Amino acid sequence: MPSTILTGDRPTGPLHLGHYFGTLANRVRLQREGADLFVLVADYQVLTDRDVADRLAEHVEGLVADYLSVGIDPAAATIFRHSAVPALNQLMLPFLSLVSVGELRRNPTVKDEISASGQATVSGLMFTYPVHQAADILFCKADLVPVGKDQLPHQEITRLIARRFNERYGPVFPVPDALLSDAPLLLGTDGRKMSKSRGNAIALSATPDETARLIRRAKTDDDRHITYEPETRPEVSNLVRIAALCQDRDPNEVAADIGSGGAAALKKVTIESVNEFLRPIRARRAELDRAELRHVLDKGNARANQVADRTLTEVREAMT
Ligand code: TRP
Repeated sequence: MPSTILTGDRPTGPLHLGHYFGTLANRVRLQREGADLFVLVADYQVLTDRDVADRLAEHVEGLVADYLSVGIDPAAATIFRHSAVPALNQLMLPFLSLVSVGELRRNPTVKDEISASGQATVSGLMFTYPVHQAADILFCKADLVPVGKDQLPHQEITRLIARRFNERYGPVFPVPDALLSDAPLLLGTDGRKMSKSRGNAIALSATPDETARLIRRAKTDDDRHITYEPETRPEVSNLVRIAALCQDRDPNEVAADIGSGGAAALKKVTIESVNEFLRPIRARRAELDRAELRHVLDKGNARANQVADRTLTEVREAMT
């Protein structure tokens, strides 16, 4: 039976190669295989680690453009945002009653985000957003959630909530599985995790020149002989890995081809591979216009509302 897939992103900046190989590629593949794909622009989640959602309209539009440019089919997918689907948000209330404060406090991803945010205080939303994320996933009864590794603690909370709801009130929700990509985590050009907010990411929307500039700046090491050894040579291996993913080849072979060409040859190959890989994505993006993006989101919001209203009714009935 084809599954229902839900996944999403915070509208805080352009998606990058890490997103592509970590989750976008899986979304496109599953959709082509016939899954009912829901993609969430998680606008309320933006407020977890910052006080205001900066340039929100622009980032929302950018995300939708990123989705369509990588090949998500807008005719079949439901692309929607939190703030447009009240019934989804309403599920958070019963769901909150199903988890303990201790369970929320133990979440390692939330702990990391709290320390990375540099905020003086932790908001209640930061603390409880994994429960909100459970509402994202369960409102449409998704059974598969393509995510990066950092999202696994949230996925556990979603599964816990689904199980506890069903035990307490009767069977309403599937217990969804996470789908991890087999591509390893990409590092940014500074050697830290590739991230929207760190200026170290190769955005899917970057021009060929921006891409080249960013890769030329990337950290490497002094050994001119290029090898793929992620443990001992993380920066060099990361460029090899990016080139290999873009060429759909084995990283050891890509490294062997470069041989003793040094960092300059490695960067040249990486730049060419990334630009070649992004070529069709850029071409699709160039054909999109704002009216189309708005239409896709309106249509997705309408369908998400229908689905959420139906689930909320079921939840109410189960609870009375
Ligand atoms: N927390 C995810 C992130 O920061 C975004 C997200 C929100 C999400 N709701 C979701 C991912 C539901 C998967 C399923 O990237």
